[in-house]
Amino acid sequence: MALAKTLSAAEPGAHSAAAQPVIVANNLTIGYSLHRERKLLTALKNITLTVNKGEFVVLVGPSGCGKTTFINAIAGIVQPWEGTVEVNGQPVTGPGPDRAMVFQDYALMPWRTVESNIRMPFELKNLGLSKQEMDERVHRYLKLVDLNGFEKSFPYELSGGMKQRVGIARALVTEPDILLADEPFAAIDAMTREAMQSELERFVTQTRQTVVFITHSIDEAVMLGDRVVVISYRPGQIKEIVPVNLPRPRFDYDVKALPEYGELREHIWRLVKDEALQAARGGK
Ligand SMILES: Nc1ncnc2c1ncn2[C@@H]1O[C@H](COP(=O)(O)OP(=O)(O)O)[C@@H](O)[C@H]1O
Ligand SMILES: [Mg+2]
Repeated sequence: MALAKTLSAAEPGAHSAAAQPVIVANNLTIGYSLHRERKLLTALKNITLTVNKGEFVVLVGPSGCGKTTFINAIAGIVQPWEGTVEVNGQPVTGPGPDRAMVFQDYALMPWRTVESNIRMPFELKNLGLSKQEMDERVHRYLKLVDLNGFEKSFPYELSGGMKQRVGIARALVTEPDILLADEPFAAIDAMTREAMQSELERFVTQTRQTVVFITHSIDEAVMLGDRVVVISYRPGQIKEIVPVNLPRPRFDYDVKALPEYGELREHIWRLVKDEALQAARGGK
């Protein structure tokens, strides 16, 4: 344990000596107009959050509290009603190759093979890679998500967990600065899930990618996050930001055995439970 590099969440993005803001949300309010019911729904309200270079931020909160809306705003897929989101000092106006998204519902192209789905980002944006480099990347990430042998399969031939892994490989293949992941492991069985969490932790620590990750699993949040942002029931607001000061790599250090792990888990669980109860009373 003494050798462990402890990340201090009191200084977010503690991989680096000087924190470098990458994603800056300022007073963000976002909603939707519900045409059928002719009303406006506020999904998120006054969200102010800075994510620093190399930081792993996890969002948790009850269903419908605006987590997906928030990362869609960072991705440039939805526009704020009020407030701003900036990435590397520039206001977000649309999607860009600096940000890659793993979607909750996979969003694979059904007519394309696994390999061809993973290769897709290279067709959307010329990253200046040679054909050989692109092939090499596609195979590296296919291997990372353990889909060797399924290169020529189509999405309908895969389980939910496998489809999700294709989505993860597709997001990683461009080696983006920012990874936005919307419950990426939700459909993956428990054993594979732990293995993938551990791989992801190792991988993003090495590449110093900045990650915003949504999950419903408190264990996953504590295992992966430098900070866990608990969002309240709709309209989603930041209820508490919980720093996670556990040594990395967390899977190697078996942090689940530490008393701090249990305390953090319990604390976040209480916060989320209160909100989930409210959501349930709200008729969700
Ligand atoms: N495209 C949309 N049109 C209308 N309402 C939406 C749309 N997307 C999300 N919402 C609503 O906004 C709220 C927040 O949704 P979402 O961001 O998906 O929450 P979460 O990811 O936390 O479950 C929910 O009430 C949801 O029904
Ligand atoms: Mg969601």
